This record gives sequence, structure tokens and C-alpha cells, in this order.
Amino acid sequence: MINAYFDILMEENMETKVVELDELNLDRSALKEAGMIIREGGLVAFPTETVYGLGANALDDIAVKKIFEAKGRPQDNPLIVHVADFNIEGLVKEVPQSAKELMERFWPGPLTIILKKSPIIPDATSAGLDTIGIRMPSNIIATELIKEAKVPIAAPSANISGRPSPTEVTRCVEDLSGKVEYILGGGKCEVGLESTIVDCTVIPPCVLRPGGITLEMLKEIDASVYIDPAIMAKPAEDLKPKAPGMKYRHYAPKAPLKIVQGDLQKTIAKINEIVQNYIDENKKVGIIATDETIKSYSRGYALSLGSRKDMFTIGQNLFEVLRSFDDAKVDVILSEAFEELEFGVAVMNRLKKSAGYDIIKV
Ligand code: TXA
Ligand code: MG
Repeated sequence: MINAYFDILMEENMETKVVELDELNLDRSALKEAGMIIREGGLVAFPTETVYGLGANALDDIAVKKIFEAKGRPQDNPLIVHVADFNIEGLVKEVPQSAKELMERFWPGPLTIILKKSPIIPDATSAGLDTIGIRMPSNIIATELIKEAKVPIAAPSANISGRPSPTEVTRCVEDLSGKVEYILGGGKCEVGLESTIVDCTVIPPCVLRPGGITLEMLKEIDASVYIDPAIMAKPAEDLKPKAPGMKYRHYAPKAPLKIVQGDLQKTIAKINEIVQNYIDENKKVGIIATDETIKSYSRGYALSLGSRKDMFTIGQNLFEVLRSFDDAKVDVILSEAFEELEFGVAVMNRLKKSAGYDIIKV
């Protein structure tokens, strides 16, 4: 039903305007134009501090449906609403104390809070749920765009569904050119992984997706916060993640990805052994390495995520490195693993999903 509707909604191969903005010297006219497009029901991709988002007026169900169409997104996967103002009362039924405290501490920033939605939010935005995810980004281009649009902006990551989220504007252009009216560029995303999602409709609040705001940081505000056990484990029939999007294959490079996990020296040896086997089969192999290990891989196409001492850089580079292996047309990718501590929880969550949970333990 909805698909037939989309044929009418979407222009085939529309012209996409791409404008790169300088955060220190904002092009107000581009922001105004992009804000107007959102307000009038069009689509604009824009940078946030986490990943690039694909935005539409969150209160306009026809505009929001265009997002699902442009991304090829499953219709049961709700969108996050982006705001530039702490006054969210009109968008939700209530703001519980737990949410107020988290917003006060972590907004603007990479934290999405799930609350009961108000009837003003169309079903298309919440994918039929009675709750809504809301976040206030800290990226100045995102914030100024929301202010120019004068409406809250619903925005999933600006990738074709299933692909790694874009952390550089070139990747938005790659995925969305011809499908959206406007793409705003703003350099490399600071965090590089999507926001932490916390469900504040339940007591205690529950983390539905790990991200830049770690469990340790959340616990400083509310010691009872915990992580939904379903999100780190391989999706099982009986353990469904509470964030609908977390059940899908995600963040996937084109080539199959396998993670080698265990002692670092054993990991290097195992990766080298597997690489040799693939090379013997005439396959081109990508290796996700780190600054400390990259010299240990003399065969295969190795890229470093950064130093193991700096998990934030590792997270920031992850999606771009996955996409670089697509460019290099590798047949298979092998990755080192990281400790699931603090920001490492978010990094390993994305890496495991990218790999479809294909993990070799050493
Ligand atoms: O950092 C981010 O959050 C980025 C940037 C653009 O802000 N956005 C983003 O959106 O990652 P998306 O659509 O790629 O991921 C949204 C996730 C999905 O897993 C979805 O299922 C979950 O949030 N979600 C949204 N609304 C929800 C709700 N009401 N209840 C549970 N999960 C929800
Ligand atoms: Mg996404």
C-alpha cells in the first residue's frame, strides 16, 4: 500500500545540491535554503557529531515516508527526532525525572532518549510505536539547520539501509545522490558511531544501543541504568532487541567480514594464517588493523583504525574504513577485536553487527 504511495511521492533521480559548510564561518544562505526544504517536506542530509543524518520534517508524515523510500528502510524501524531546544514537552506525553537528568547532563550530545510520544508525532516517524526517540545534537550545522527549519527533524543515519553509516560527506553523496534535495557537508564526524539510546519509559532506564555516551557515564547520573542484554549477543529468537533497528543486519561492508578475537599476538598469527589461505585462493583480503599491529601484516590490504590506546579514534574511523574496503573491492575482510569496555562496547557492537556475528576465537 505504502509503496504504491511512494511512487507518487518520489521524484525519480532528482537533482541533489551538495554544499560544504565551514563550521567556523557558516554559510547562512545554504542553511536557510536547506531549512526551507525540510519545512516544505523535502529531504536534507546533514552532519551531526555522531554520523551524517538524512532529515525530514518529523511532524510531516509524507516527508518522513520519503526517508524510508530513499534509504530502503524497513517500515517497522522508527526514526530519531532531532531538536535544538530543551523544551520538548509538545513532542512527548511526559518527561520523567530520569530523562530530565540525562538531558541536563548530556544534551546537546550523542544521547537519544526514548519517551512516550504525543499525538503530534505521526505514526510514520515512530513506525507505529507509542514512543519516540529524541536527541539534541551538538554539531553546530545540525543545530542551525533545525533552527532554520523551525520544525523538529526526523533523521536516521544517511546511508542506504544496511550499509555502514556515513561519517564523511562523500559517503552521503555516494548513497543518496539523486534521492534527496540537499546534502550539507561538514567534515568528518567527531564521534563516528551513532548516539547512545536510553529508554526512559521504563524504570530503571535501559540502554537500547551503546554509543558515545558510555554506560559508565550514564551511571554517574543514575546508577541503576543497565544495557539491554539482547544488544551485545547474537540475535536469538527468544531475545529480541528493544530498538527495532538493532535486529537487522547493519553497518555491513560489501565483502563478508570475520572478527578474530582473543590474545593480540594469537590474533595476528591467526589473521596472517587465514590471509595466506585466501591469497592461495586468489582472493583479495582486507585487514582491519591498528597502529600497533599494522606492520605485522605483510600480505593482504591492511588499514589501521588508529591506536589501541585511543578507542575514540578507533570508533571514529570504523565506518569509513569499512567503506574503504568496498572501494578497494576486497573479497573478504578480517578484523582484530577490541575490549568491550567503556567506548569499546559501542565499537564492538557495530563491528559484530558488521560481521553478522562471525567471530573466530583464538
Ligand atoms: O546518532 C544517531 O542517532 C544518528 C544521527 C543521525 O543522529 N541517527 C541514527 O538513526 O542512528 P538510525 O535511524 O540509523 O537509528 C535509530 C535507531 C534504530 O535502531 C531504531 O530502531 C531506534 O533507534 N529507535 C528509534 N526510535 C525508537 C523507539 N521509539 N523505541 C526503540 N528504538 C527506537
Ligand atoms: Mg542507521
